[in-house]
Amino acid sequence: MTTVEQFDLVGEGVDRVDGPLKVTGAAHYPNDFSFPDLAHAALVRSTVAAGRISRLDMSAAQASPGVLAVITHQNAPSLRRAPDTILSAPPPPLQGDRILHYGQYVAVVVAGTAEEATAAARRVEAEYETTEPVLDIHDPRAEVLTDPFEMDSSRGDAEAALSSAEVTFEATYTTADNTNNPLGLFTTVAAWDGETLTVHDATQWPDQLRTALARVFDVPESGVRVLAPFVGGGFGAGLRVWPHVMLAALAARTVGRPVKLVLTRPEMFTGVGHRTATEQRIKIGATRDGRLVAIDHESTTTLQMEGDNFEPCASGTAYAYACPNVSTRDRQVRLNIPWCNSMRAPGEAQGNFALESAMDELSYELGIDPLELRLRNYAESHPQLGLPWSSKALRECYEVGAERFGWSHRLREPCSMREGDWLIGYGLAGVSFFWFQKPCQASATLRRDGTALVRSAVTDIGTGTYTVMAQLSAELLGLDLSRVTFELGDTNLPPGAVAGGSGLTASLGSAIHAACRNLVQAFLDTVRDDPTSSLAGCAVDEVSIGHGRIYRTGSPEDGEAYSDILAAHGLTELSAHGASTPAAPRELGLAPAGPFGARFVEVRVDPDLGLLRVARVVSVIDAGRILNEKTATSQIIGGTVGGIGMAMFEETVTDPGSGRIANATFGDYLIPVNADIPDMQVIFVGRPDRFNPIGVKGVGEIGLVGMGAAIANAVHHATGRRIRSLPITIDKLF
Ligand code: MOS
Repeated sequence: MTTVEQFDLVGEGVDRVDGPLKVTGAAHYPNDFSFPDLAHAALVRSTVAAGRISRLDMSAAQASPGVLAVITHQNAPSLRRAPDTILSAPPPPLQGDRILHYGQYVAVVVAGTAEEATAAARRVEAEYETTEPVLDIHDPRAEVLTDPFEMDSSRGDAEAALSSAEVTFEATYTTADNTNNPLGLFTTVAAWDGETLTVHDATQWPDQLRTALARVFDVPESGVRVLAPFVGGGFGAGLRVWPHVMLAALAARTVGRPVKLVLTRPEMFTGVGHRTATEQRIKIGATRDGRLVAIDHESTTTLQMEGDNFEPCASGTAYAYACPNVSTRDRQVRLNIPWCNSMRAPGEAQGNFALESAMDELSYELGIDPLELRLRNYAESHPQLGLPWSSKALRECYEVGAERFGWSHRLREPCSMREGDWLIGYGLAGVSFFWFQKPCQASATLRRDGTALVRSAVTDIGTGTYTVMAQLSAELLGLDLSRVTFELGDTNLPPGAVAGGSGLTASLGSAIHAACRNLVQAFLDTVRDDPTSSLAGCAVDEVSIGHGRIYRTGSPEDGEAYSDILAAHGLTELSAHGASTPAAPRELGLAPAGPFGARFVEVRVDPDLGLLRVARVVSVIDAGRILNEKTATSQIIGGTVGGIGMAMFEETVTDPGSGRIANATFGDYLIPVNADIPDMQVIFVGRPDRFNPIGVKGVGEIGLVGMGAAIANAVHHATGRRIRSLPITIDKLF
């Protein structure tokens, strides 16, 4: 049966199989689902960041046209907490009068139409007894969590090595709060039928949502069905079970009708998580000839008042370079801010900015080319675990990137490259993203007409999961892509992994690999005692597949078509199940490698007009086997655009007095537009990884990592100005 060495899926991409559905409007996003007696919900949010609700007057809202219910903490039933997981749900809403952040829900209004609900929600009168919110990470009142992820690391003695190093460098870097802004406004449509709940939602993890809602409403999991065949982007915003989802289900149960709740764009800024701000201090010690002897990286990120957020910023530094003495520490500071949550490349996006900026600064102190400095400290094996990498082609990333970009044309001195009025700067960053694979299940069915159906309860957040999983299944079953359908987004399907952490392709692909192998086994079981079959008595490892047939390896004429086997045995179809569990690194004796990459950036700065432009980006990525070069390239391009946003535009502004989000609209929160996006080259290098049977590593987040540092480094090269704070806005530059 096909093994990872044999199949060849790298090469030209395949168009998205769901493309026609999307462009013709036939793809149903959560907002597209409706019911004949659908009611609509609108939210009322706290206008203060800390304190308690002192008065709520719902009379005007209740008397508003079309209103079916107004639910507040005064009349809401008690709801249970969802189970604690790594991406745990916030506590259920409307369970008390305490206010912990601006935008916290204080009421949900249900009415016959969305307009009626919105109008009535404005008539809810809320008064608050406020306390002074904790909004600054240096506020002495703020609770500080140390080592919250139990990922702090230490090897050698960083402090001693720093004090005796020939060259030392130290700086503090900051990054701003950013807000995930998927185009699709998060929508939940909830419908109860007795104790059975059906929910359409923009989740990135249907199974977790099902488990959480079952617990919150105290109904059996089997009675909850979550559907998410299409979602309008996620970038991490759909990883958790947000309070508005619980409110939609609560509203539906209260009025006894299906309810639709669509967040507004301002509500997206307070209700579905955001990337935390960071303050990071880095100290580096090196020899004169550019060998790192010590790195100390301490990161402090912001955190909401209760609950957790997995955002390890410093820990990646432990394995970035071959350096004998390293200490990394992550801290979190609790503030009266809306919930923090993963936003594409959590932790690495911020941590890499600090480390790769510091490496660039060190290169100037040493008078060594920034690329050369990185190569001199290349980690050939995992420096913390002392194990060989499961795969690592970062050196090739640097070499190919330097060649394609023309790094050798870079003049060393800042401000030394110019074209007319434009100062030109070259910058680079080395990048990685951590390994993340989760248990996953899938099923595969072959029918007598020669078509296959492969299924798992995952989501495709726009990454191309529909497409690459259909391709992979076709390859593993020896069928034409046109004969394979991959179905997802429904908790009635086999339990799926989260579409997050760049891990779904590895998790799900491995499950599909198992399911397809088991399916071939099921066919062999069917013919085992059939004297007329040329496959009788064959084991799965003795056969190959292709053109809809199973045949003895090396002897293509000794085989049978799937459909012939089904017909001969009076079967309409055969199915098999497959499950994958992440491999245990220690058992394999390998260090799990996430994707690696090198980002090369050219910026242009017009110092008279105060213009900063990214002119070119070359990204060379090692993500193991690339299942579809076209969709993978799109992932890197999309991540790069997000990275340019983080580096130059995006900043969620919290009003320092009130805790209000001051720029919660697309008019005020800047994201890159087409004119900000330059020519981008994406090149994949490397070999299949050894940690899963399909050899993939993941491309979802790596495309964002490193853009902050590469742009900051290029800005320094162009202008001589070192910006240690993202976003790099023109006011910081001049
Ligand atoms: Mo990604 S931030 O894990 O959706």
